[in-house]
Amino acid sequence: MFKSVNSLAHNKRSVYNFPMKDLVSICFESEFLALVAAKFAQKNALNISTLDEASSDFILYYKEDITELIDRQANTAIHVDFISGSLAHRRKYGGGQGQAIAKAIGIKKYRLPLSVLDVTAGLAKDAFVLACLGCSVKMIERNPIVAELVNTALKLAENNDNFEDIKQQGFSLLQTDAVDYLKKLDTKSNSHYPDIIYLDPMYPQRKKSASVRKNMQILQKLLSHKENTQPDETELFNLALKFARKRVVVKRPKTAPTLTDKIPSMSIQSKITRYDVYVLT
Ligand SMILES: C[S@@+](CC[C@H](N)C(=O)[O-])C[C@H]1O[C@@H](n2cnc3c(N)ncnc32)[C@H](O)[C@@H]1O
Repeated sequence: MFKSVNSLAHNKRSVYNFPMKDLVSICFESEFLALVAAKFAQKNALNISTLDEASSDFILYYKEDITELIDRQANTAIHVDFISGSLAHRRKYGGGQGQAIAKAIGIKKYRLPLSVLDVTAGLAKDAFVLACLGCSVKMIERNPIVAELVNTALKLAENNDNFEDIKQQGFSLLQTDAVDYLKKLDTKSNSHYPDIIYLDPMYPQRKKSASVRKNMQILQKLLSHKENTQPDETELFNLALKFARKRVVVKRPKTAPTLTDKIPSMSIQSKITRYDVYVLT
């Protein structure tokens, strides 16, 4: 069974530009998950194997309750969970409209519901915080592995009562390149443009920085693979300025330079983060 799925995967062109065949393997916990795992492997030209046989640096592991990304070298794993764990804790005790991110998007200035397009969704932490503040959020994530972690979490949350309000507001993910997505907005009327475009581009890892949490360290490792680097942040930023109706917000480490030479209208700081805000209306 493993063999036939593998050969199918090799014959199909990946929809993602960066080949990840040697970097990530797909594994599943039980036969019940074989089909979904095989479909994903085939779509993204990845190898499917047993946990024991996998020799890649990372494993996307389909389990009964979650899908996790295992970093074999670091012997650790990450997953996304909108219902329990740190995101649920942040929802309860995160500080609401007083948070720096809330001020950055102008939650008090504009009327809710604000529509936010998060063009660098990653593990959806910021997107979820924005959804918890009452925004309707559309996430764009280019990397299919990262997108799959978020997608699984969305599916698991779907029927949970605690997620109902967020679902009603709109909280969705599209796996594509945000540059392409934004360029396509050009053909649509501006009623399709989001109020806020939010960008959190990857920032080069500082060695052994305690402030870079486990999730982000693994994400950085996955995405810093040489085939995965594509410096398109300036283009993304310029497109965001063109298509956001009210603001573009760029998240940066506190002491990092601005993303481009363009001076922000204002910057809002939290302990380790700075939000550069470009006010458009
Ligand atoms: C620093 S992470 C974002 C973390 C996120 N804010 C969170 O709270 O989890 C940046 C993410 O943006 C994604 N990304 C970078 N350029 C992109 C593009 N052009 N289109 C879509 N996603 C992109 C990367 O794959 C990565 O997952």
